[in-house]
Amino acid sequence: MADGSSETKSSNQMWGGRFASGPDAIMEEINASIGFDKKLYAQDIRGSIAHATMLAHQGIISAEDKDKIVHGLDTILSEIDSGAFEFSRRLEDIHMNIEARLAALIGPAAGRLHTARSRNDQVALDFRLWVKEELQKTEKALTGFIAAFLDRAEEHAETVMPGFTHLQTAQPVTFGHHCMAYVEMFGRDRARVRHAIEHMDESPIGAAALAGTGFPIDRHMTAKALGFREPTRNSIDTVSDRDFALEFLSIAAIAATHLSRLAEEIVIWSTPQFGFIRLSDAFSTGSSIMPQKKNPDAAELVRAKTGRVNGSLVALLTVMKGLPLAYSKDMQEDKEQVFDAAESLELAIAAMTGMIRDVTIRADRMKAAAGSGYSTATDLADWLVREAGLPFRDAHHVTGRVVALAEQKGCDLADLPLAELQAINSAITDKVYGVLTVEASVASRTSFGGTAPSEVRKQIAWWRARN
Ligand code: ARG
Repeated sequence: MADGSSETKSSNQMWGGRFASGPDAIMEEINASIGFDKKLYAQDIRGSIAHATMLAHQGIISAEDKDKIVHGLDTILSEIDSGAFEFSRRLEDIHMNIEARLAALIGPAAGRLHTARSRNDQVALDFRLWVKEELQKTEKALTGFIAAFLDRAEEHAETVMPGFTHLQTAQPVTFGHHCMAYVEMFGRDRARVRHAIEHMDESPIGAAALAGTGFPIDRHMTAKALGFREPTRNSIDTVSDRDFALEFLSIAAIAATHLSRLAEEIVIWSTPQFGFIRLSDAFSTGSSIMPQKKNPDAAELVRAKTGRVNGSLVALLTVMKGLPLAYSKDMQEDKEQVFDAAESLELAIAAMTGMIRDVTIRADRMKAAAGSGYSTATDLADWLVREAGLPFRDAHHVTGRVVALAEQKGCDLADLPLAELQAINSAITDKVYGVLTVEASVASRTSFGGTAPSEVRKQIAWWRARN
């Protein structure tokens, strides 16, 4: 567009009426947001078309001017889509880049578009539309991710693995149950996404600079045209609110934190020492020096992206902290944080969905590990309560002595001879061996939400009906 050679120190053509000269080069550099807010061009154009249409409907501008404006904006949309549009830093941001181009295309009618609005409500609108669309994408991505987990959970509803607390073997669980724990976590993330979409479903346009406008605009009409439930209620709040961006970032930070926990488990489980899983070639890399290596780089990077996303949340919270109402230019710093976090989150969910779909589960290794570390000691204690009528605390003590004996002999609980068990507590009978296997252990945990395959299948069915 007409910028290039005219890069002189003349005052800004959009707001330069009271300025004798243009900005210092450093001022221009610190002020410009076009480098990143050009991402909002489609939202900006959509918002302007809705605004112009409403202005004409209300008789604030003529139908002819509206038609010129809409046609010009359509042209600009295809120019930007095709890469033909030349963005100018001198024009600061996406709003003024588009408006200046509109003036070049259609002449004076372009100057009527900004009637009854300000860049303050304009940017609030564009950014909110962008965040809302991003959340809709996130919702879809999470649904695909959950579906991947449901398939693996179904396949492995009976595959026994060690369950951990403190990363120490605790009790046997099923791999299906472990997968369903992640389904719960990402399901909550998705619920937060849906709630946030509902929360931000109010249209900012028409709040103008901060006080509203004296023109007879119809904010309900623009809200409807732009797919919002209703217009925002307070014009001061509208231009000073960035809760929708903070909400996006907090949801992203929690989801990324969940992803990092999964990433960490993938990293640990794929070590030769654990050997619970084998990563597909598609989601691992080799080492340039050690030919035997297969590294879980994708999982490590997902773990690391969490740092970026959490950083973005803290950055924007800090930008917003203590800002007086209404709009302040500080708020221009909102976009890069959100864009960066959105890109990281999208990538992380996609990579993890691929990894979960592709990963090979080594059921033999999981089962062997599940049986080590006296993982069925609680089952023995429960048996003593149930069958021998001991109070749980006493049963716990007896079991502790049994574990110490097994440890001393270097064998599993199930390998201890009955006579030696009876020497510790005479109420023990040979029926106890029935509860000491890992399969019996998981099968017995039929409490609601427990690890028994029958319960896991119920959890899967519950989610299938909701995914
Ligand atoms: N580029 C600005 C931003 O992102 C647009 C709003 C500017 N408003 C203003 N009054 N200077 O926040």
